[in-house]
Amino acid sequence: MCGIIGILGEEPAAPLLIEGLKRLEYRGYDSAGVATVVNGAIDRRRAEGRIARLEARLAEAPLPGTIGIGHTRWATHGKPNETNAHPHATERVAIVHNGIIENFRSLRQELEALGHRFSTETDSEVIAHLITRYLDEQQSPRQAAASALARLDGAFALAIIFAGEHDLMIGARRGSPLAVGYGRGEMFIGSDAMALAPWTDRICYLEEGDRVEVTRAGATVFDGEGHPAEREIRQTVQSGALIGKAGYRHFMLKEIYEQPSVIGDTLRSYVNPVTRAIWLPAMPLSLAEVGRITAVACGTAYYAAMVAKYWFERLARIPVDVDVASEFRYREAPLPEGGVALFISQSGETADTLAAMRYAKEQGQTTIAVVNVPESSIAREADVVLPTLAGPEIGVASTKAYTTQLTVLACLAIATARLRGTIDQRRQAELITALTEVPARAVEVLTHDDVIHRLAHDVAEARDVLYLGRGANFPTAMEGALKLKEISYIHAEGYAAGEMKHGPIALIDETVPVIVIAPSDGVVFDKTVSNVQEVMARGGKVIFLSDRDGIEAFGPGASATIALPKVDPLVAPILYAIPVQILAYHTAIFKGTDVDQPRNLAKSVTVE
Ligand code: AGP
Repeated sequence: MCGIIGILGEEPAAPLLIEGLKRLEYRGYDSAGVATVVNGAIDRRRAEGRIARLEARLAEAPLPGTIGIGHTRWATHGKPNETNAHPHATERVAIVHNGIIENFRSLRQELEALGHRFSTETDSEVIAHLITRYLDEQQSPRQAAASALARLDGAFALAIIFAGEHDLMIGARRGSPLAVGYGRGEMFIGSDAMALAPWTDRICYLEEGDRVEVTRAGATVFDGEGHPAEREIRQTVQSGALIGKAGYRHFMLKEIYEQPSVIGDTLRSYVNPVTRAIWLPAMPLSLAEVGRITAVACGTAYYAAMVAKYWFERLARIPVDVDVASEFRYREAPLPEGGVALFISQSGETADTLAAMRYAKEQGQTTIAVVNVPESSIAREADVVLPTLAGPEIGVASTKAYTTQLTVLACLAIATARLRGTIDQRRQAELITALTEVPARAVEVLTHDDVIHRLAHDVAEARDVLYLGRGANFPTAMEGALKLKEISYIHAEGYAAGEMKHGPIALIDETVPVIVIAPSDGVVFDKTVSNVQEVMARGGKVIFLSDRDGIEAFGPGASATIALPKVDPLVAPILYAIPVQILAYHTAIFKGTDVDQPRNLAKSVTVE
């Protein structure tokens, strides 16, 4: 949602803040700003749009000062313009905020009645005025911050600096992540370790309700009740190197092409290449005894959960309930004693998924997190962590995280099925062989880039696009539609192929491209072909994704076919995700949208 950073150092803070904000831009990029303490007074530079515009603003009007805070915004309240850009400040205090203050209206009324004048439409500004109120009541900066935090309802990660204070920065976290970085004679606060990696690998993650008082000498943490608390300082694995595009035009394209290697890396961390046995971390229960699995996630990760449902139910014969986290966390689902709850998240910071996991823990579930950031909040609170080894995913549209999530989930489903005896050794060996061949098959799939690039030209002209799939590829259809929507801004829907005739087929005419995901995998293939005939009979322009056998069986009529490698049905959802990623990418290029940072989006949604 938003990225925040604070620096308490020896050299000018503004250039360092900009460098840190560039590493946080994936979290939001509507506007950006920095504030420092200069000769005892607070000064700010802010700009609408990307951080580069803020950098230009600073080049015109440099900002001195060795203590400062910075922010890159994904707007929740108030237009994404310079006026609403953080840091928000009064003469006495400046703050940057990630989260939503739910009682900001009543606080704003209270403060306006005391004579405070607001200049923005944001919820966050109320924090600066509330702290100022307590400063005006002669509370110290530390006390004033604590008093203000106690009045806030909602979620926040905060960094706060004070006029006249050259060696004090305060941070606080409730619902949104916040880390403290320990440098040499300098200290940092940031939304994640990646933002602080250029300067330190010694990171302390604040826990829910924590407040931290930072000076150049170190940090003192107070828990939600205001008691001093010890928090572990750990060595982060985040690289200090700025992640580049390695010659690719966009991060998304780089990450699409990284998939063969990162799927291989992930596989090697779960499958012994010699014995081909699947290794899983120790678990507080035996997967052989699990009666039900609840799988919860958001967006692309939710589609991975949907695929996992097909795998666990077919292979391990375990019923799986899947839901999007924003629904699950409020529907108070009754969960069985001894159940397992699976949470899938690239960032490990998605607020809805984190809240859903906390609900499941309260209901006595064993929580398993499939995450790409092992130091994330979801990873730290789960009972078991199954990391994906996708490496940092910068493109807002998730690609390599999705296929590595599926890789981990496939390993988990196979291992669970073997433990329960619902598959024999031979079938396990077949499935593991199919998995271990995925990286090579993925390389083959990537060779279709040019063909798909040409198809994207027509898709880019469409107003509506449909994606159809059945079985474990129904989620692939959903994921393909999401990719197209979020980076090309074309409306798209993923549908179970058998469901088209129950209404959506009314949408079909020659202006609606229909992307069909249909590996020749037995029963569902034949049924899908029938559904596609129904579509073509009504003039639908079909792009048919299958293998050679499938395309031959399908026969003529599609406006285009893409022949992918013939693979075991288990791994088809992993491989068939790649062409729909590429189609979305090239379509977005034709549309001229910002592929890596699409409008209105953010990479990590840390608010509800
Ligand atoms: C996927 O392309 C989107 N960027 C979005 O749906 C994303 O998958 C979702 O916000 C979940 O994020 P997470 O995996 O970090 O929890």
